[in-house]
Amino acid sequence: MHTIIEAIKRKYESSYLETSEFFVCFNDLVSNDFNTLFSSLPPDRSYKAAEVAGDFHHRLLPPSSVHFAYSSWSLHWLTEAPKEVADSGEPWGDSVYKREEGAWNPEKEYTIVSLVEPLRSSLVDMAMQGRVSEAKLDSFNMPYYFPTVRQLKGGVLAAAKTIIEEEIATKLDISTISFCCIADFGCSTGNNSFPAMHTIIEAVKRKYESSDLKTPDFYVWFNDVVSNDFNTLFRSLPLDRSYKVAAVAGDFHSHLLPPSSIHFAYSSWALQWLTEVPKPAVGLHSPAWKGGKRLYGVKREEVYEAYLGQFERDLEAFLKCRAVEMVKGGIMALLIPALPAYWDPQTEFTVASVIELLRSSLVDMAKEGKLSETKLDAFNFPYYIPTPEEVWAILQKSNSFSIERMEILKSGTLLTVDGHVACFRAVHQNMLTHEFGAETIDESFDMLKKKLQTSPVYANPSNDKTLVVVAILKLNNV
Ligand SMILES: C[S@@+](CC[C@H](N)C(=O)[O-])C[C@H]1O[C@@H](n2cnc3c(N)ncnc32)[C@H](O)[C@@H]1O
Repeated sequence: MHTIIEAIKRKYESSYLETSEFFVCFNDLVSNDFNTLFSSLPPDRSYKAAEVAGDFHHRLLPPSSVHFAYSSWSLHWLTEAPKEVADSGEPWGDSVYKREEGAWNPEKEYTIVSLVEPLRSSLVDMAMQGRVSEAKLDSFNMPYYFPTVRQLKGGVLAAAKTIIEEEIATKLDISTISFCCIADFGCSTGNNSFPAMHTIIEAVKRKYESSDLKTPDFYVWFNDVVSNDFNTLFRSLPLDRSYKVAAVAGDFHSHLLPPSSIHFAYSSWALQWLTEVPKPAVGLHSPAWKGGKRLYGVKREEVYEAYLGQFERDLEAFLKCRAVEMVKGGIMALLIPALPAYWDPQTEFTVASVIELLRSSLVDMAKEGKLSETKLDAFNFPYYIPTPEEVWAILQKSNSFSIERMEILKSGTLLTVDGHVACFRAVHQNMLTHEFGAETIDESFDMLKKKLQTSPVYANPSNDKTLVVVAILKLNNV
């Protein structure tokens, strides 16, 4: 509560507004020890406290009265153990929870779920010794459920999907659309693009259906750089798609499509790529990189300004081009990876932390003479991972687009160490081959893998604090 209230206070203070009064309602079941809670309230708290006893699956508070709701380690408690499970006599531990392949190794690792089984078998032992009623044990099971990270991730991805669907339903003006053009900027080979295009098209179709209008024809333009593997994209197109397709090769910081031709523009995990490495940042070895982790890592230094400047110029160029290509009132959805203001490197990481490990792998390779130092001195990564505030500041400066909505989600990429290596290799292989030669690639990524394995932080995907900004923009009519 202290963290939440202090953060809200800071917001008031930075807006020069008088800080409001704070009221905290503590909720738990009727059987909770509320006396202890009251007597342990911090004496220096800056809020009034009330206790609300009752099941949180029911209404507990007056309508529209809560500004910030919080729940920690509670939602896995179910209202009851499902009937089938309670009566089945099945074990409750690991075997009840369908573990994802490789999620944890019960030989050397454990999770909270692993602790449930010993508890169950202790009770069974006690029943066998006649110290616990067997009949009662037979009809008992644990009333909680621990979702897998993937199940939660489904929710996060669903959040971006829901945002797009809601914005199409409420903001897209279909009255003048006789055919509908959608463009994906930075589509890669389509894996993630096809489901996104499907989501957009289905949402637009629903809008037509609910307005009793004839559904238009759909056209999707897939854009990526000239060197992208468009063959794979075309070969993997969903057979049951309801749209016509064209590929548009070229830099999305330039004009690519006819004026006033796009109704919905989309770009996901692509705008972090810069048109060039800003001059002060050149050289992974350069003084600017001393303690290079500052750029991508927890703290940032002067090079960071140069990167941010380049990111801003590039994003502005992107918006300028789309402003010409989109129809007035057209909608744009941007998904941009982002960094939180702070994360604790002892226990957490972000995509920036992995970039830093790749950087240090390349520097180590150069030290061992396996990679040209001269080349390393002239290289840096041509991308920048902004904070959500930086994205907001740039977007809100646009005269052409209004920000209709901006949400910050957890990235939910949930990669294992091998997953990180595979993903980073896919993204960097061509670039690093071009810079340092194909013979350096295997060892660079082996080194990255070792560095990831050395730190326990990367073993658990839920330590990943990388964010995704979902920004919905609308092209102004004037
Ligand atoms: C990490 S992938 C993201 C792919 C996909 N949108 C997704 O969400 O998974 C980034 C893609 O953006 C493309 N890209 C980067 N800069 C670009 C530019 N200036 N013009 C067009 N595409 C670009 C890259 O080639 C790459 O395929």
